[in-house]
Amino acid sequence: EKGGYEYFMLKEIVEQPQAVADTLLGRVGVDGTLTLDEMRLAPSELRDIEKIVIIACGTSYHAGLIAKYAIEHWCRIPCEVEVASEFRYRDPILNRQTMVIAISQSGESMDTLMAVRYAREQRARVLAICNVNGSTIPRESDGVLYTHAGPEVGVAATKTFLTQLVACYLVGLYLAQARNLKFGDEINAVIEQLANMPQQVEKVLGTVGPVRELAKSLADSGTVLFLGRHVGYPVALEGALKLKELAYMHAEAFAAGELKHGPIALIEDGLPVVVVVPSREGRGVLHDKIVSNIQEIRARGARTIVIAEEGDDTVRPFADELIEIPAVPTLLQPVVSTIPMQVFACELALAKGNDVDQPRNLAKSVTVE
Ligand code: F6R
Repeated sequence: EKGGYEYFMLKEIVEQPQAVADTLLGRVGVDGTLTLDEMRLAPSELRDIEKIVIIACGTSYHAGLIAKYAIEHWCRIPCEVEVASEFRYRDPILNRQTMVIAISQSGESMDTLMAVRYAREQRARVLAICNVNGSTIPRESDGVLYTHAGPEVGVAATKTFLTQLVACYLVGLYLAQARNLKFGDEINAVIEQLANMPQQVEKVLGTVGPVRELAKSLADSGTVLFLGRHVGYPVALEGALKLKELAYMHAEAFAAGELKHGPIALIEDGLPVVVVVPSREGRGVLHDKIVSNIQEIRARGARTIVIAEEGDDTVRPFADELIEIPAVPTLLQPVVSTIPMQVFACELALAKGNDVDQPRNLAKSVTVE
């Protein structure tokens, strides 16, 4: 059942182009029309939404953080993201015009389920994004959008994360179409690019070979830091989480702009720092800022491991290791930039002799609060 791979995780990483394609299947028409019938929200309800609140845990929470950037930009609806275990204890402001999106691969995370119940008591509309058919969270929600990643056996979320991103983009683009024709051209262009993501994911998988060697060379590091800006920041958080859970290593992620507010003091000779460089398209300022961040940490001795768009020559002089990913629109970049992070953590963990399918102390679905 592992399809010739030693671990499910390795197989699940390779299955990502298919998982992404299956999640898009039947939802994106040739003319760019989106069909998300299972959402079960009437057009009038979609137009009435005044606020979106995303709740999730762990990796699913990182998908939510990325969704916020996309939804606010495309739909102009204020969007909050919160860790499910914190959500209901802070007296959040919810009403009929609030759409709560609960993201859960398993559909069984107790923290997320309790947050869903709370949101419904407060009369919010709850949409679940979930990978397991008929699981508890979608059953208790008003609507559902299933990710079609297929079963994920490895404890660490990989293919389900990519498909959660796709599902979040679909919801954002669908809302934008339903509410706001002003951005029509941009929205249509993004839909076209989204439809092309399976090929881009395939392309990344073809080029991550060097990441394996790199990961092995870092098995003795005490700490790895991750930096990103904009949607690259949640990708950095995801990279750090993967390294903690699989390689049992200390890893921390920062918004690159926060460096100078404290974390830069951590930089010392030889410290590995993974940096996600934003796409050049449309966000030149962000791109230039991160290039200076890379220069700053390198001047202080960091070993820079840079994930950047292919052909991005501006970062090359400051990258001790350069990992190239295809050029895609900024908001979609996490779909490709996450993959080197997964491979990096997986290989590093394997180099340490860890079982990547069953990391210590962890369970695939966390059914206690
Ligand atoms: C990380 C991981 C966990 C889950 C979290 C939420 O690789 O697998 O952080 O993402 O426990 O699980 P779901 O999405 O099932 O609610």
